[in-house]
Amino acid sequence: QFEIYLKGLEDQVPPFTTDLSALEDAARDRIDPQPYGYVAGAAGTGATARANRAAFDAHRIVPRMLRDAAPRDLRTTVLGSELAAPVLLAPIGVQSALHPEGELATARAAEATGIPMVLSTASSHTIEEVAEANGTGQRWFQLYWPHDEEVTASILARARATGYTTLVVTLDTWQLAWRPHDLDQAYLPFLRGNGVAIPLSDPVFRSRLDRSVEEDPRAAAMQWLPIFSGKAHTWDELGFLHEHWDGPIVLKGILHPQDARRAVAAGMDGVVVSNHGGRQVDGAVAALDALVDVVAEVGGETEVLFDSGIRSGADAFKALALGARAVLLGRPYVYGLALGGAEGVRHVVRSLLADLDLTMGLVGCTRVAQIGPDTLHRPAPAG
Ligand code: FNR
Repeated sequence: QFEIYLKGLEDQVPPFTTDLSALEDAARDRIDPQPYGYVAGAAGTGATARANRAAFDAHRIVPRMLRDAAPRDLRTTVLGSELAAPVLLAPIGVQSALHPEGELATARAAEATGIPMVLSTASSHTIEEVAEANGTGQRWFQLYWPHDEEVTASILARARATGYTTLVVTLDTWQLAWRPHDLDQAYLPFLRGNGVAIPLSDPVFRSRLDRSVEEDPRAAAMQWLPIFSGKAHTWDELGFLHEHWDGPIVLKGILHPQDARRAVAAGMDGVVVSNHGGRQVDGAVAALDALVDVVAEVGGETEVLFDSGIRSGADAFKALALGARAVLLGRPYVYGLALGGAEGVRHVVRSLLADLDLTMGLVGCTRVAQIGPDTLHRPAPAG
């Protein structure tokens, strides 16, 4: 509890900044421009990425006084699982571009901090390798839904067999958006061989490949791109996922309240309100504003999770106050990975959790369930 006072007295400084909103600048100074651009970049003009932050700034917390707000308990239940805190690590692909240990380092840090990780289908390490690195940690699996039922079934079976409990189906990236930062950097060479460990290690997917493509990344890409990208699935196909997954399923990338309503009608267990960190539709609604509308529509009927723009404990608090069951941390932990491997991720997660814990205490909440809309000031008018 007193670590923040005592550390300074002992002249201990963290490996890099504890200000998660400043990590982007720290990473810009210290890592290569290509991986930096891959993480920091957004779609188009960056309008939605900026709107995500502006929406957080427009909401203000109203602390309450003379409440006995210690000790605090950050534990919460999400989709039937008890979590140490209402925080998860968002699925982020191709993490070996940031650090050689990539998702393995993230998996170790997740286990060490007691926070679930969501493994991306675009992982640079296999489902099985990451599960092993994550040990006794809680792990979820994010699906980029292939247009090949046997490949999909095989990938889901591997994830279930290795202890991933919850399926997160990302819907907003069936096609990459207009991302000038990637286009300008000629990123395919930099991602070469890094981001396709899951399909390339999949026996069913491999049976689809020509022998030669193993030596030729461009030819390989020409084979996996049409399976993983280029056209959207539709609402009537969701039953297939139910048939091949026996745990909770949540849909990620929901922004419209009526899509959240359809998710509930389709028997989904929850939604993740997200605009992919502003990396898909430039000009899309700020994720926090969408959260308000989605919670108003389905908050009483399903679990609503949130990401896009979380940079501090106060941000996590605001999303929880607006009805998110839990939040997913995105870019900040990947900057931590780039700056310090597993130790860097651990530092970022511990900082966020400590900040959230302090915010709760200073606002007067001892439990997550007490974080409600009454802890916020009415939002400032837009513009
Ligand atoms: C992502 N995101 C993402 N989402 C997903 O479902 N599968 C993926 O493979 C990826 N990959 C990915 C790479 C990078 C570099 C970034 C920054 C993001 C989106 C991610 O899960 C999350 O929605 C956003 O990161 C949230 O926005 P902030 O908080 O990072 O701004």
